[in-house]
Amino acid sequence: PLVSAAEMLKKAREGKYAVGAFNTNNLEWTKAILKGAEESKSPVIIQTSMGAAKYMGGYQVCLDLVKDLMDSMNITVPVALHLDHGEYEDALKCIELGYTSVMFDGSHLPFDENMEKAKDVVAKAHAKGVSVECEVGSIGGEEDGIIGSGELADPAECKKIADLGIDFLAAGIGNIHGSYPENWTGLSFETLSSIADITGGHLPLVLHGGSGIPLDQVQKAISLGVSKINVNTECQEVFAAATRKYIEEGKDLQGKGFDPRKLLAPGTDAVTKLVIDRIEWFGSKGKA
Ligand code: G3H
Ligand code: ZN
Repeated sequence: PLVSAAEMLKKAREGKYAVGAFNTNNLEWTKAILKGAEESKSPVIIQTSMGAAKYMGGYQVCLDLVKDLMDSMNITVPVALHLDHGEYEDALKCIELGYTSVMFDGSHLPFDENMEKAKDVVAKAHAKGVSVECEVGSIGGEEDGIIGSGELADPAECKKIADLGIDFLAAGIGNIHGSYPENWTGLSFETLSSIADITGGHLPLVLHGGSGIPLDQVQKAISLGVSKINVNTECQEVFAAATRKYIEEGKDLQGKGFDPRKLLAPGTDAVTKLVIDRIEWFGSKGKA
């Protein structure tokens, strides 16, 4: 069923595992993510960035696609459709249309404005049973044109945003979108612990920039309260690598290998495989 992410993440926080939130871009990726989650009997979050939703033809298209695929693929695991890094207007639009979860990312705004808009998003979302993620302290790197400075979140600000009644919180703890540089010093577990404590010890925390964080750091983050892990770049990497291999091996030249259904299959299978692997890492296998 298509559900809000609130319940699944509350359970994850209590059960000390995390739910994967995978970014989609098209039909193939959406199928790949649903298939991986169903095979793993795991809850899953499918998320669209503003840019990806635009690319796919708009939020309504994304919503209809997920719903229709869930029917035709007989998906039984809980699935949330989430807006990733949404502006205020986009968050309101998705709530109105029927997304089951939204992120309002006001991390680039002055803190007072972030608070004010977050409060309004929470009121409108909760009136419709939609879950809300907010962000404090910007995540480093660039994703789909959203550029973050990478500062560590201020726990006092985290508490203020958490007190608005948001369902889960994204906080900068040294995580970066895209691949991690050689000289990356790792996640700040000290910041993560302070945020978990000051927000009361139960609020699900979100780890953005999930691609390329070593397993031991992922597991430590989960033990300290991370319940949602966003993965985008790694899906892109495995999709591109498998597609490149197929073309370089000349398979597109054999038979009807250039048929898009054949051309896109290896990349799509690679995304499913990665989703299954990450679900194992995050501990949500069998938790549906
Ligand atoms: O919001 C999406 C993510 O934070 C993805 O980060 O591309 O580094 O996996 P990533
Ligand atoms: Zn992100």
